[in-house]
Amino acid sequence: MAAPSVTTNPLEPLTGDEIVAAVAAVREARDLGERVRFVSVELREPSKDALAGGRPPREAFLVVLTNRDGMTHEAVVSLDEGRLVDWRDVPGVHPAIHIDEFDDAGNAIVADPRFREALAKRGIEDPDMVMVDPWSIGCFEDGDRRLARGLAWLRADLEGDNGYSRPIGGLVGVVDLNTMEVVRIDDHGLLPVPSGEGGDYRPGALSPPRTDVRAYEITQPDGPSFTLDGHQLAWQGWTLDVGFTPREGLVLHRIAHAGRPVCHRASIAELVIPYGDPNPTVAFKNAFDIGEYGLGPLVNALQLGCDCLGEIRYLDAWVNDSRGGAVHLPNAICIHEEDTGILWKHFDYRSGRTDVARARRLVVSCIATVGNYEYGFYWYLGQDGGIGFEAKLTGVLHTAGVPEGDPGPHATEVAPGVAASVHQHFFCARLDMDVDGTRNTVVEIEALPEPRSAHNPDGHAFSTDRRVLDRESAARRSVHPPLARRWRVESSERRNRLGEPTAYELIPGEGIEPMALPDSEFRRRARFLDHHLWVTPFAPDERYPAGEYPNQSPGGDGLERWTKADRPLQDEDVVLWYTFGSHHVPRLEDWPVMPVVRCGFELRPVGFFDRNPALDVPPPAAHCHPD
Ligand code: NI
Repeated sequence: MAAPSVTTNPLEPLTGDEIVAAVAAVREARDLGERVRFVSVELREPSKDALAGGRPPREAFLVVLTNRDGMTHEAVVSLDEGRLVDWRDVPGVHPAIHIDEFDDAGNAIVADPRFREALAKRGIEDPDMVMVDPWSIGCFEDGDRRLARGLAWLRADLEGDNGYSRPIGGLVGVVDLNTMEVVRIDDHGLLPVPSGEGGDYRPGALSPPRTDVRAYEITQPDGPSFTLDGHQLAWQGWTLDVGFTPREGLVLHRIAHAGRPVCHRASIAELVIPYGDPNPTVAFKNAFDIGEYGLGPLVNALQLGCDCLGEIRYLDAWVNDSRGGAVHLPNAICIHEEDTGILWKHFDYRSGRTDVARARRLVVSCIATVGNYEYGFYWYLGQDGGIGFEAKLTGVLHTAGVPEGDPGPHATEVAPGVAASVHQHFFCARLDMDVDGTRNTVVEIEALPEPRSAHNPDGHAFSTDRRVLDRESAARRSVHPPLARRWRVESSERRNRLGEPTAYELIPGEGIEPMALPDSEFRRRARFLDHHLWVTPFAPDERYPAGEYPNQSPGGDGLERWTKADRPLQDEDVVLWYTFGSHHVPRLEDWPVMPVVRCGFELRPVGFFDRNPALDVPPPAAHCHPD
C-alpha cells in the first residue's frame, strides 16, 4: 500500500497517513504479533546530495521494540513503494520509552497490592488520587531488563490540582516495561504526606487576581510579514523549512539568507537533567528528556493570546503512538513576529538628526511538557542576520517528601515537608552548518591581551587570536568568558568585499559545568558534557550526542566514540555540537509554579554581509514620532 503522499517538500515531516502506511508496511513484511511497541516513526531525511538532485525518494525510519524478546529493530520503509526496504536487529540496547508506556507503568504501580499496602501504611485509602511519575532508570539497575521507576504524589482533586505539593515520601515502584510487571516496591520509610497548602497555582486559589493589569493588544493590520507555504517559511530575506521529529520536536532545515545557505539543519538534539541529591528515594533521577523519552509526543497544542501574541500561523504535527497509530497534534508549532526594541539608531548631535530602525524578529517555537516541567524551544531569526535559540524553562518543580525543616544540603524546602532537589539542565544543540556552501572551517577566536612592550607602552593593547580547529581532537572546547572565546564557521568558498571568508560565529550563552563527577554513572552516559563544544564532519548516522540509544546505556556512545577517529575538519561539511544550560538551585519563588528561566546562544554573522544588512529597514511608522 503506497501512502497517498501529496508532499512536494522533501523535508516535510511525515503526515498521519504516512505514519500509518509505514507501520502497515512493517507489519505486512514482519510477523510482529501484538506485543510490540512502535518507539518512533519519522521521516528518513534525504541527504544534501539527494536534495540537490530533484525529488528524493520518500522514506520512513522506524524504531520497533518486540516486547516478547526485548529486541530493538530499525526499519526503513519506502513510502513511494509502500514496502519495507530495510530491517535490522539492534541487540544490546534499550530504545526510548514512549509516553504510552509511562501511562501503562504508572497504572501498573498504582494497581499493585504491595504498593497499595504501602499507601495504606501512610493513611492513603483512595489509590485513584495517587499520581505516579515513571522515570527512566539510568544505569542504576540490572542492565538486561528495560525498567522504569515511579515516584508518587497525592492529589486533592482531579481537576488540575498540583499533586507535586503532596509527595508521598520514601515510596518508589520499579516496573519492567516489556512485561508491565511491577518488579518491586522500594519503601525508604514513612513520612507524613504534606498538606499541600499553598501549592495550588490555579487562578484565585491563593489570592484574588491583581486588578491593575490593563489590556495590551498587538495588531498587525496588514497581516504578518512572513509567508508560509506548507512547511516552507520566508521572512525578511530568510528562507527555511520547519521540520518536526518524534525525538527532537522542532527542527529547522535549510536556513538561508537571500539564497545563501547558513545552516542546513538545526535542532536541540539532547536535553539531560542530572539531579544532585543522594536521598535514596530520588538518587536515581537523571533524565535524558530527548534521548530517553522523545519530545515530539509531548508537545503542547498552542493557543492564540496565551503562548504567543500577534498574527500567528501554526503548524500541526503528527506523531506515532506506541501501537503504530497516528496522533494529531494541532497547533504544535507557532510562528509569529515580535518587536524587540531598536535595531539600530544614531542621533547626530551636530545636525539634530535622528535615524532609527525598530527591530523585529521571527519566532518559531514549540513547548513540550515533560511530566512536571515545561520546556519552550524558541528559534529566532533577526533582520540583522542573526540566528538565536532560547530555551524557556517553567512548570512545576519535581518534589520529594522530607522531614519538615530538614531537607538536607542537596534540596530546598519550598513548602513544609516538600523539597526540590538541586539539579542542572543541559541542552545540546546540533548545528549542521553550511555557511555559503557545504565546505566550512571552524576557527576559535579569542582576545589576546598584549604584554607591555615598545609597541604597547601603556599596557592596554589587545588584539584577536585565531586558531583553526583542524581535527576532532582539537575541537573539543570549553567556554572561556575572560577571553570572549567564540567559534567562527568560515566558508571555504566565498569571500566578502574585503577578501575575508564569509562567516558566522557561535556566541556562547551560559556555560554551566556539570557537577556530577567525571566517573559518575550519569557522566558515563553523557560524555558530551565533558566539553561545551565538539565539532565533527557530517555523517548521516551521527544524530545525537549521547548516541542513538542512551536509555539504560552503559555509556561510550555518541561524540565520545565518533571523535576517537580524530577526523580532519578543515574545509569539511562540519557539524557543531554546543552544550549550554541552566544551573538550578530551587528558590521559594519557583513554587508552586516556576517563573520562566531562559538560556540559549546566538549565531551571529561576522563578515557574512558586506555591511549592516538592515540599512533598508524602513523608519518606524508615523505614530512613533511626536510630529
Ligand atoms: Ni530546573
